[in-house]
This record gives sequence, C-alpha cells and structure tokens, in this order.
Amino acid sequence: MAQQIRESTGLPTIAVGLITEPEQAQAIIESGQADFVALARGMLYNPRWPWHAAAKLGAQVRAPKQFWRSQPQGLGKLFGGLRLGQR
Ligand SMILES: Cc1cc2nc3c(=O)[nH]c(=O)nc-3n(C[C@H](O)[C@H](O)[C@H](O)COP(=O)(O)O)c2cc1C
Repeated sequence: MAQQIRESTGLPTIAVGLITEPEQAQAIIESGQADFVALARGMLYNPRWPWHAAAKLGAQVRAPKQFWRSQPQGLGKLFGGLRLGQR
C-alpha cells in the first residue's frame, strides 16, 4: 500500500506492519516500496531496535553521550567511531 501511494502521488510514505527484521526494513527502503519504515510491536518489545538493526547492518547511530560507554566490543563504529578517554 505504501508503494502504491508513493508511486501514484509522489509523496513520501511510511510502511508499517509485521516488520521485524533489519534486513526486511532495509529491503523495503532499498527497493523503493516506501521512504521510511515504522515498527510498533517490535519497538515495544525492544525499544533500542534501531541500534540493534544498525549494528547488524553495519550502520551508525547517534547516541546520547551517556550511552557511549555501552558500545559493545567489536562494534567500534556503532556510535560513530568515538574515542573515549581512560578513567
Ligand atoms: C499498543 C499499540 C497501540 C497502537 N495504537 C495505535 C493508534 O493509536 N493508532 C494507530 O493508527 N495505530 C495504532 N497501533 C497500530 C500500529 O501503529 C501498527 O500499525 C500495527 O501495530 C502494525 O505494526 P507492527 O506489526 O509493527 O506492530 C497500535 C499498535 C499497538 C501494538
């Protein structure tokens, strides 16, 4: 439906419903089915779903400074390649 509306009106659309996996979300955007994706239940279950999706897809997120120390080892660029000082 998002694709039909997008194609017939030229307006940006958001696809929602049963989107659970990062790859699925990325495919919707890359294939031009929609301009954005939205998650309802997936975000209720995992409020940091976008962070996990970014980690899985090798992308970066902008996180508040208070979270920088939580960046897992092996995901050194998730928060944008930060350099943290030693305590
Ligand atoms: C707790 C909850 C509340 C929702 N409230 C609304 C709402 O107020 N208006 C609306 O249009 N859709 C509402 N929805 C529907 C969602 O926006 C979404 O379309 C639907 O859950 C399918 O997406 P999902 O598979 O990612 O959950 C709600 C869904 C949930 C789970």
